[in-house]
Amino acid sequence: MRGDLETSKGIQRARRLPDTALAALWDSIILDKALKDRLVSQAMLNFTLRPKVERSVIPLHGVILLVGQPGTGKTSLARGLANRTAQSFQGSDFRLLEVDPHSLTSSAMGKTQKAVSELFVNRHAKLTPYRHPNLTPLCGAEIRA
Ligand SMILES: Nc1ncnc2c1ncn2[C@@H]1O[C@H](COP(=O)(O)OP(=O)(O)OP(=O)(O)O)[C@@H](O)[C@H]1O
Ligand SMILES: [Mg+2]
Repeated sequence: MRGDLETSKGIQRARRLPDTALAALWDSIILDKALKDRLVSQAMLNFTLRPKVERSVIPLHGVILLVGQPGTGKTSLARGLANRTAQSFQGSDFRLLEVDPHSLTSSAMGKTQKAVSELFVNRHAKLTPYRHPNLTPLCGAEIRA
C-alpha cells in the first residue's frame, strides 16, 4: 500500500524520515530562530491536536504556505521542516512526499481538480495505517516581479 502511494500520479519523490542530510539542511537554513521554532510548533500541532479536534472547533487547516522570490529557501525549508517534525516523533513511520504539481494539471475541464483530489483526499485515506493518519502539506509558491 505504501509503495502504491509513493508511485502514484503526482508524487515526484518519496523518502523515509528522519534523514541525516535533511537534518543538516535544516540547520543550514538562515532564518530567524523564533520563526523556525514557530514553524516546528505549527507542524507538530498538525500531528497531535489536528486529528483530535473538529475543524468547526479549531479552524486549523494544516497547510503551511511558503511564499518568496526564487532561490530564497522555500523548498529547503519545507524539506528541513518535514525532517525536523519527524525527529520530534522518533520511532514513527514518517515519509516526505514531494508532489510535482505540473503532472497534475490538465487543460481538460475539471481534470486538475480531480487529480488533486485523488492525491490529497483518496490517497490520504490510504495513509490510515500510519501512526499519524494525517498529511501536512507544505506548499511553495513563487512571486515573480
Ligand atoms: N535562507 C537560506 N539559508 C540558507 N541557504 C539558503 C537560504 N535560501 C536559499 N538557500 C540555498 O539556496 C539554494 C536554493 O534554495 P531553494 O531551492 O530552497 O529555494 P526556493 O525558494 O525553493 O527556490 P525556487 O523558488 O526557485 O523553487 C539552496 O541550496 C538553499 O540551501
Ligand atoms: Mg523551490
